[in-house]
Amino acid sequence: MALQCVETLISEHRTVEGVLAELEALIDDFLANAEVPDAAKQAFGSIGDFLAKDLVLHIRKEDYGLFPALERFLPLEQGPITVMLHEHAEITQAVAASAPEWTRLSRTAPPVGWRQGGSATTDAA
Ligand SMILES: [Fe+2]
Repeated sequence: MALQCVETLISEHRTVEGVLAELEALIDDFLANAEVPDAAKQAFGSIGDFLAKDLVLHIRKEDYGLFPALERFLPLEQGPITVMLHEHAEITQAVAASAPEWTRLSRTAPPVGWRQGGSATTDAA
């Protein structure tokens, strides 16, 4: 049972890597093309949903399932568990903070001037 749970977590990591690769490709497309196809908008919405639901659920599985089991063998005060808990908190906060942007990206083109200096200068939404 425990081995199956770990295999599930590892499989979820591969899924996250795939989604991040998809996001990277979408960003590359945005940099290369002025028009944002509807499929790309839909993909942004799907990625935002994935991050808010699947990634956060994965993090909870590790924080409340895996890490407590590992604490029997690894010190909690320092070391990889502490680092991963901190990273998970940062990721969870970033996903929550970015939720409105994923929704906006799924409905509209990027803000006017978003390529200039690597950030938006005017919001067209
Ligand atoms: Fe993980």
